[in-house]
Amino acid sequence: MCGIVGYIGKRHALPIILDGLKRLEYRGYDSSGVAILTDDGLIVRRKKGKIKDLIEVVGHETINGTTGLGHTRWATHGKPSDENAHPHRAGDVVVIHNGIIENYTELRAMLKDRGHHFKSETDTEIIAHLIEDHIKSGEPFEQAVLASVNQLRGSFALGVLYAKNPDKLIAVREASPLVLGFGNSENIFASDMPAILPYTNKMLFMNDGTMAVITAEDVKLFDFTGSPLPVNPKQFDISPAMAEKGGYKHFMQKEIFEQPQAITDTMRDRLLFDKKEIDLKEAGIDGKIMHALKRINFVACGTSYHAGLTGKYIIEEMTGIPVDVDVASEFRYKTPLVGNETLTIAISQSGETADTLAALRLAKKHGSHVLSICNVIDSTIARESDHVLYTHAGPEISVASTKAFTAQLITIYLLAIHIGRGLGRISKQQAAVYIDTLVTIPSLLDTLLKQEDLLVSIAKEYARYSDFLYLGRGISYPVALEGALKLKEISYVHAEGYPAGEIKHGPIALVNKDMPVVFIAVKGKVYEKIKNNMEEVKARDGKIISFTNTGNNEIQNLSDSFFLLPEIDELFTPILSIVPLQLLAYHIAVINGTDVDQPKNLAKSVTVE
Ligand code: AGP
Repeated sequence: MCGIVGYIGKRHALPIILDGLKRLEYRGYDSSGVAILTDDGLIVRRKKGKIKDLIEVVGHETINGTTGLGHTRWATHGKPSDENAHPHRAGDVVVIHNGIIENYTELRAMLKDRGHHFKSETDTEIIAHLIEDHIKSGEPFEQAVLASVNQLRGSFALGVLYAKNPDKLIAVREASPLVLGFGNSENIFASDMPAILPYTNKMLFMNDGTMAVITAEDVKLFDFTGSPLPVNPKQFDISPAMAEKGGYKHFMQKEIFEQPQAITDTMRDRLLFDKKEIDLKEAGIDGKIMHALKRINFVACGTSYHAGLTGKYIIEEMTGIPVDVDVASEFRYKTPLVGNETLTIAISQSGETADTLAALRLAKKHGSHVLSICNVIDSTIARESDHVLYTHAGPEISVASTKAFTAQLITIYLLAIHIGRGLGRISKQQAAVYIDTLVTIPSLLDTLLKQEDLLVSIAKEYARYSDFLYLGRGISYPVALEGALKLKEISYVHAEGYPAGEIKHGPIALVNKDMPVVFIAVKGKVYEKIKNNMEEVKARDGKIISFTNTGNNEIQNLSDSFFLLPEIDELFTPILSIVPLQLLAYHIAVINGTDVDQPKNLAKSVTVE
């Protein structure tokens, strides 16, 4: 996820663009850049680091121009660096981009054959060269952009500037957000409203497959065939602060609702739906490594550790390879029984967690092949791994990890199918069934998220309690742990996750009418057993909140409150069952008035021991 801004009008463009980038910094912050059209020509400045580092660079210059583009990056292809930062330039054409171009390698090869030279590792740079190539073939600016976007596959929100057409900017939208702002003798476009609101409330959210040709006085819209479209901006009554969170109250809530998109983006160009196959060459686990594997070992902390615990069930079920899961802070101080027949998988959203990094280094030292699952491109853990599978969840700002967790799970499903197929443990038919299931998940989550009000009412019912027990069996056990972690870390309420079968070995002594017990009771191998546990709790006046996907009433009849999950193969239930638990924790915290996005004593990335 990146932030893009374009301005054309009566004022100096640079300060407006820099202010817009600062307001979009939550969308990505590993590098940034600007392009301003001045009387002396096109000036492009790019800098690795935060916006403040770019401001430091341009602050010492006089860059006067009333047309410009700006970009703050969340790297997907090519590490954060000055040369990979946007805008990207080809002659007099400059481009900024948010999204992923899936066919950029073939386009880059075609352009190289036509004499183009590339300076960056990014997919975006090929767009600038493609447009320049069409212009050199004699096509006018607008037609050159249209012809180019019709050759792209993937997701792209673009801003394009052509120095030889100084009186216009072009914006293009396909599967990445783009908003147009309409001012007086000035117009602005951006990835999101916060960059626009200080200048105008009159906005239009572009649709996929559309191109806007923008001058200081006018905005024209076209579809990708070049046919004109109506331009109907609306007046929005929303403050810049509210807009930064997309209208949500907290980043945590926004990120919970971003999960369908995060999962779609993480599966993109890895799950080949037509062929019913997984393309995971980037994991670096070929048949030779697979057949030599005797064990897989997850090392991680916190929520990422819970992803590893869930991954154990997934990978053992799909591949038959034994899986261990270690808390990284424990692993780093033990004598590790890993070697070249072990695959160590380090899971880390930030890619900077000190304990996980230390565990990874120890595993490597003992000869283990190391793969990491990270959400930050070129982070330390990613760089020190033999291979990395990036989750494309976009920046996760809230301390409580939500969309990164489900993106980690999706990545583990893809990896398990990849290895299972390579070992011949999963037939082509079974892989097709798994892939069909994965593809339904974003829409099932959308359906589930529409029932947020039900979680609000459950939260109102239970926010006053001070102790919770979260219980699950099988693959729902790590979900219970993660649900409990969410509640305790943002609402400061004591919550403990436990394997449901274990309550008779101790925790049931705690159960009484003041102890809400959350059950994840989904259809599957141990459904009858979890029902028995619910009866045991019920018999001791425990308050039961159940999350179930059984349409029958037996679970509901045992519950004081319940939430109905969409039905899905038990192996895939964690991706769904964790989301109402995230929302329950979030709304209890809101009721309790805690600082949801920055809970006390916690940091987003624990880079110290
Ligand atoms: C999760 O909500 C917490 N913020 C925390 O447990 C986190 O998962 C843990 O610190 C690991 O962080 P990482 O994924 O960036 O390595």
